[in-house]
Amino acid sequence: MGKVISIINQKGGVGKTTSAINLAASLAVAERQTLLIDFDPQGNATSGLGFSPEKVAGKTIYEALVGQCSLADTILESELPGLFVIPADQNLSGAEVELVGAIAREQKLKKILDTVRGRFHYILIDCPPSLGMLTINALTASDSYLVPMQCEYFSLEGLSQLVSTATLIQGALNPNLSLEGILLTMFDSRNNLAHQVADEVKKHFGEKLFATVIPRNIKLSEAPSHGKPVLLYDIESKGARSYLEATKEIIERNLPKAAARPPVTSEAPAPGLQQ
Ligand SMILES: Nc1ncnc2c1ncn2[C@@H]1O[C@H](COP(=O)(O)OP(=O)(O)OP(=O)(O)O)[C@@H](O)[C@H]1O
Ligand SMILES: [Mg+2]
Repeated sequence: MGKVISIINQKGGVGKTTSAINLAASLAVAERQTLLIDFDPQGNATSGLGFSPEKVAGKTIYEALVGQCSLADTILESELPGLFVIPADQNLSGAEVELVGAIAREQKLKKILDTVRGRFHYILIDCPPSLGMLTINALTASDSYLVPMQCEYFSLEGLSQLVSTATLIQGALNPNLSLEGILLTMFDSRNNLAHQVADEVKKHFGEKLFATVIPRNIKLSEAPSHGKPVLLYDIESKGARSYLEATKEIIERNLPKAAARPPVTSEAPAPGLQQ
């Protein structure tokens, strides 16, 4: 079953979509079948991977969510082998309102996602900049959440608010939800405040802070205007290399734990110890 990871931060413009696109692309390059779900009415992940609103109209996550088509029917193949996309457009903003009166409204995404989960190693959900009904649906459908974060003064307050929301959802709707990690984005190593904020996050979250930081890099901001992940735009760029490194961390964190070995007894010496 694919691991579902929400890319979330209620603050706008912190690098959620850039991280979602480039982590998903890097996972595909690492031969993990990956599905990126655009779950933001802004549709930035959709356009950033080269899909125009006209092309996707009528077959987006919105139609799947409200039962007008199956989720499988909305899956598009991207230019990169192994990377698939479910697009979004502005209709998705209607779902925030329409879902309010629906039965089991928080579970809508989870329910339809279960129908395609088996086809992928990873499913990444690019969330909108709010903690509304769409984000609650994403967190209810996810195994974990990954928080891209810019090292600014107010970032820490936002982070604790976000973690409390996730904890509420874990308690009420999704006991298995865990924090995948916090990824520092647009990092400027010459900025003292950035280092202070990074130190604070490390103090509170320890190993949950990714060792890799994503630097501010112009190639990362140019790539979506060409409809490509940065790996297909400039693989040598610092931006591309940093997302490949962060992806390695995700893969390592999710390697299956070594199967428990039976205890070694005197009657049955461990292989290799026999004379
Ligand atoms: N590491 C980076 N270096 C340079 N520019 C970046 C970097 N990461 C993101 N950007 C740029 O910053 C802007 C915001 O990034 P992005 O759209 O990924 O944020 P977001 O959190 O998804 O925004 P929103 O909350 O609106 O969905 C974009 O113009 C993007 O190209
Ligand atoms: Mg975004």
